[in-house]
Amino acid sequence: MPNTHWAFLFVVLLAHSCNGFYLPDSYMHTYSTGDKIFAKVNSLTSIETELPFSYYSLPYCKPDEGIKKSAENLGELLMGDQIDNSPYRFRMNVNESVYLCTTPPLSEHGVKLLKQRTRDLYQVNMILDNLPVMRYATQNGIKIQWTRFPVGYTPQNNNEDYIINHLKFTVLVHEYEGRGVEIIGTGEEGMGVISEGDKKVASGYEIVGFEVVPCSVKYDSETMIKLHKYDNITSPSCPLELEKSQIIRQQERVSFTYEVEFVKSDVRWPSRWDAYLKMEGARVHWFSILNSLMVIFFLAGIVFVIFLRTMRRDLTRYEELDKEAQAQMNEELSGWKLVVCDVF
Ligand SMILES: *[C@@H]1O[C@H](CO)[C@@H](O)[C@H](O)[C@H]1NC(C)=O
Ligand SMILES: *[C@@H]1O[C@H](CO)[C@@H](O)[C@H](O)[C@H]1NC(C)=O
Repeated sequence: MPNTHWAFLFVVLLAHSCNGFYLPDSYMHTYSTGDKIFAKVNSLTSIETELPFSYYSLPYCKPDEGIKKSAENLGELLMGDQIDNSPYRFRMNVNESVYLCTTPPLSEHGVKLLKQRTRDLYQVNMILDNLPVMRYATQNGIKIQWTRFPVGYTPQNNNEDYIINHLKFTVLVHEYEGRGVEIIGTGEEGMGVISEGDKKVASGYEIVGFEVVPCSVKYDSETMIKLHKYDNITSPSCPLELEKSQIIRQQERVSFTYEVEFVKSDVRWPSRWDAYLKMEGARVHWFSILNSLMVIFFLAGIVFVIFLRTMRRDLTRYEELDKEAQAQMNEELSGWKLVVCDVF
């Protein structure tokens, strides 16, 4: 009887896993012109300290609907990330430059915190349509790429810190040629799961790249404070002079702005991760994989030892009983022997 129960449970589990969830990033989203897409923010991280902090522990602009955790897919859950929503709003194929918010005058505590995070080289992790933001820079003539941008920066031989408050985004999009059906996931035996509802000819744009140029811009807070969230501004140029950058200092008000350009790209959706795979720094991932494997083996070892001890105790008890006693005891067998038929 328990055998049938298990078989039933197995079937239920199988059926559930078939349409229950999709593998991370296996779901292609197409957007039409004007569709709103909000970026997400992950914890602030630093290679210096390894200790992550929540994005909203710094005085960044908050979304209108409040801060919500949005671990949306298996990948995000498995990484143990703290992914929150953000007010960075993108409208497909709308190039714009907008105002977000202005902080109250910075307090002594706020200044200390911002300076500390800047000096500890904390970085912002932003995600759009599952793609981490990519930043390119040239250092000593070598082109390098990162998947995050700094909270602020400290010029050399300088005691002051400057905050990144303007972000220039480039979103690469690929025009989607509708094939009538959309493969939205991978089911059993590698077969594509095709959504029945989307059998009409689909068209739109896929997001295949997300890049940022971070800047520090000094705004006149008196004029900025009169603006509303998402009001258009004239796009500032990234200043090279420190006098035109936003310093982190007590009583300063920091205005946050961003601009976005949508650029058509030949990169197709399945290849959109190629740029990331070329990156260096996979060492950290190997380390965490090794770490997880060790934990798994350790726990499996504990379970195995407990299992072995229980089995051995049962077996020695059976051996101690001579044959006649065993025959009498046949109805009251207990422990491992009772379930051995069910397991195998
Ligand atoms: C702001 O600029 C965008 C893109 O140029 C435009 O679509 C939008 O209507 C503008 N908004 C206002 C309030 O002017
Ligand atoms: C947005 O800007 C990019 C780059 O300047 C340009 O190629 C594209 O045509 C612009 N899109 C619109 C809708 O104006």
